Amino acid sequence: MTDFLKTAIEAAVAAGEVLRRKFPETREVASKGPRDIVTDADLAAQRVILDLIAQRFPDHAILSEEGRHDIDLAAPGFTWVIDPLDGTSNYAHRFPYFSVSVGLAEKGEVVVGVVHDPLGRQTYYAEKGQGAFVRSETEAPERLRVSDLADLAQALVGFDLPRDPAAREKVVAATARASAATRTMRSIGSAALGLVQVAAGGLDGYYHLTLLPWDVAGGALLIQEAGGQLSSPSGGPWRLDGTGVLTSNGHLHSALVKTLRLD
Ligand code: 2AM
Ligand code: CA
Repeated sequence: MTDFLKTAIEAAVAAGEVLRRKFPETREVASKGPRDIVTDADLAAQRVILDLIAQRFPDHAILSEEGRHDIDLAAPGFTWVIDPLDGTSNYAHRFPYFSVSVGLAEKGEVVVGVVHDPLGRQTYYAEKGQGAFVRSETEAPERLRVSDLADLAQALVGFDLPRDPAAREKVVAATARASAATRTMRSIGSAALGLVQVAAGGLDGYYHLTLLPWDVAGGALLIQEAGGQLSSPSGGPWRLDGTGVLTSNGHLHSALVKTLRLD
């Protein structure tokens, strides 16, 4: 394990401790825009991550949902891509599914990806070319593999809803088509946990039309290293600085592109 991955895991677990501790407490919720909120817990978790990374790697850039956004992911050097709390609406409503997502990109390519589930006490992690793994506090790491299902009619497929009304309408229409073509659909409310489930084989696919780099940086590498596939929502090449993603176990990818018809 490189120092990069060790730091990513340490930061995600430390932020997860903050989120878990604050989960039962009263929280301050501020609005960032329609359907877009931030809590005191997002900011406290982000502080822990930024401090640790700045201390270990003072030369690296950090792109973080509640921090700096003016960072060019294609620029030379390393950029950390952070979502300190993925699933803020769940967290604010005390619906107990949320995560911390930490990615490290080199010139736009993710080389380390970590998603931590603080309530499930599981850490999912990958390094480029080294496979994807999950570990709990007590058990040895286990390798992650996507499912091998090749029949869309038997698939369990995840999605989450955009905030923007027009994008939301598109996703609802696409999801109506998918719900007719699959066994059934799931919406967890934390995109990073959805991506993790594709890597772990619990979901056969997952899509989101309006994700941003910090939602996807951690989970994208987990899926690639677990043998799955990522594309743009319409089936084109996936880019970390794009918006939206369609993921699958690979076998179902073209069937999902055709069924969803997302762009
Ligand atoms: P967040 O909790 O960090 O905001 C819910 O739809 C899931 O998608 C959450 O993981 C949420 O992340 C993420 N998300 C990111 N951008 C979004 C957007 N524009 N609209 C809705 N969800 C978004
Ligand atoms: Ca967030």
